[in-house]
Amino acid sequence: ATGPWDYDAVTSALNDSPFVRACRGQDVPHTPVWFMRQAGRSLPEYRKIREGIGMLESCRRPDLVTEITLQPVRRHNVDAAILFSDIVVPIAAAGVDLDIVAGTGPVVAEPIRTAADLERLRPITGEEVAFVGAAVRQLAGELGKTPLIGFAGAPFTLASYLIEGGPSRTYTRTKAMMYAEPALWHALLTRLSGITLAFLRTQIEAGVSAIQLFDSWAGALSETDYREFVLPHSAAVLGGLADAGIPRIHFGVGTAVLLGAMGEAGADVVGVDWRTPLDRATTLIGPAHAVQGNLDPAVLFAGREVVEREARRVLEQGRAAPGHVFNLGHGVLPETDPDALTRLVEFVHVTSQR
Ligand code: CP3
Repeated sequence: ATGPWDYDAVTSALNDSPFVRACRGQDVPHTPVWFMRQAGRSLPEYRKIREGIGMLESCRRPDLVTEITLQPVRRHNVDAAILFSDIVVPIAAAGVDLDIVAGTGPVVAEPIRTAADLERLRPITGEEVAFVGAAVRQLAGELGKTPLIGFAGAPFTLASYLIEGGPSRTYTRTKAMMYAEPALWHALLTRLSGITLAFLRTQIEAGVSAIQLFDSWAGALSETDYREFVLPHSAAVLGGLADAGIPRIHFGVGTAVLLGAMGEAGADVVGVDWRTPLDRATTLIGPAHAVQGNLDPAVLFAGREVVEREARRVLEQGRAAPGHVFNLGHGVLPETDPDALTRLVEFVHVTSQR
């Protein structure tokens, strides 16, 4: 034992946690569950602690990151914590002037659209996001046997914010660059994959037990374009982390036609939104990958009976995969009743008991 923690015992407990075991396709005592955006506006204690503090600033304060990350773990009894941060944190650290506007999302002051603009996105070593490492170390101590998931945005989703200047429905400028200037496109995504790798390595060195690569908006692409313009860059990130030996989760929204390719990008677990049943997803992804998902976040507004019926269906369909991590099909909606989430965790644990 070293200090207050027996680090070897904690590491082996984390390796043996239901969450990590399910990611690896190993047998579990119950299906593990966590929620994308479990830390956030659905929790009154989150709204209170964030009062008067900007989103990016709160991501840079390890004490605040630690407290906000722990809030849903205390409340819901989820099987994993997810680091409180944002996909644009490493982009800001790379020199891009941006803000996260409440109710809108990331807004980039001067979008990146030319080779000259690319100079404003500097490579990072990881030191620029040292505050994230500090938060992860603090959290690893506080969480004990509960795994902490680190994360980053995938190159395509990050590029979409940089090129559009903010959220988009059509990704017109993003796709225009992809089709019309493939050399610039690949240079931008290569730089983003390097930044993403540095951000994730900082989290891994500080002690996260798994990582999730969010390619939230990849579903805007055809499979052909995804394979040519996106997959090699996501594969560089996921492949670059293979030696860490921790589970890698890859998630996007509206990705039914991309699920096979997303598995090929090098993830251990493929996240699935609510549109594709998990048994069908498993057929598309193949037996080498666990799946994560996929209750429709809107179901939580339909009352307890419907939540339980739909959760039972998700659990049944998830049995087709070698491993299943229960989650929503996308993030918790801000208006969600937190008690409905707590009850859902309890229901998943009891219903999936082996
Ligand atoms: O609990 C968790 O899941 C961890 C925290 C987390 C946040 N952002 C906190 C956050 C995670 C994993 C993210 C990732 C993220 N950020 C993604 C990928 C996940 C996804 O939803 O597909 C994307 C696309 C972003 C970009 C972004 N940041 C958006 C679209 C928004 C929402 C804007 C809004 O106000 O509706 C943000 C801001 C943001 N990130 C909030 C939180 C809790 C809300 C800000 C606030 O509370 O004021």
